[in-house]
Amino acid sequence: MKALELRLEIPQSKCFLSREKTRSAAWCGFQMEETDRILERVASIGPDRLLDVGCGCGGFTAGLSPHCREITAIDSSQALIDRCKKENARANVIYFCMDGRDIRYSNNSFDLVAERMTLHHIREWEKALDEMIRVSSKYVLVEEPIDDPRSKEKKDARRARELLLALQNEVGFSHHEYLPADTLKNYFSSRRISIESEIIRSDELVSFDEFFRSFDDFAQKSSRKEYWLDRLESLKRELDGNKLCEEDIVFIAARKS
Ligand SMILES: C[S@@+](CC[C@H](N)C(=O)[O-])C[C@H]1O[C@@H](n2cnc3c(N)ncnc32)[C@H](O)[C@@H]1O
Repeated sequence: MKALELRLEIPQSKCFLSREKTRSAAWCGFQMEETDRILERVASIGPDRLLDVGCGCGGFTAGLSPHCREITAIDSSQALIDRCKKENARANVIYFCMDGRDIRYSNNSFDLVAERMTLHHIREWEKALDEMIRVSSKYVLVEEPIDDPRSKEKKDARRARELLLALQNEVGFSHHEYLPADTLKNYFSSRRISIESEIIRSDELVSFDEFFRSFDDFAQKSSRKEYWLDRLESLKRELDGNKLCEEDIVFIAARKS
């Protein structure tokens, strides 16, 4: 219950991912990246029934809604579902509080099932992916941040994220290290499902403070607030306050035969 309340309290401008205009803002203060791969694909397919798993505040779902006849959007947080209904109500969208690991729909209920930036919030992400595959009759689309420590700035960002994740998990906000792209791709292969995939690389840098802009909000929720702020300060010193690199993204489009 604590985790649900915490998510609701995160200010729109202070979500935790580093790509403000796209990923983080998309969660609550929504802005759709024009080139978002899921959006492009959904627009070209024009599905009849789409399921959006982990819809957050519903901004992304609302962006998809002109391209589908009907959308069911689920999230494990009742607080966020309430917010979806207030802020992103659409005539063809139904919002439900439901766990992505236990989707209460029968096999092949949707012709397209999508998730954006959600699997790395789920401890047993394989269960959620299995469920997505089960309830889809045709397409499964996945868009997830991934980690490729190809530069010093990427390695520093990984270290920085470890600190953020440790704090977030302490205060009940489920958020895990990014999944390697191959892990996700191989998961589909192990289910004998063919995929196409694309890695969208970014070497863009953000300032240390920008990277950690949500840290203070999360630290406020901890009984060890000072401890976390000290750790942040020492990390900043260690990394000379250098800029940190944004994450890469993997887009996977799977088609069940
Ligand atoms: C970063 S947000 C992504 C929001 C949205 N898909 C977007 O792209 O704007 C991740 C969402 O996953 C939800 N979530 C976490 N665990 C979940 C689970 N087991 N089942 C369904 N949703 C879950 C969180 O509540 C959160 O709203």
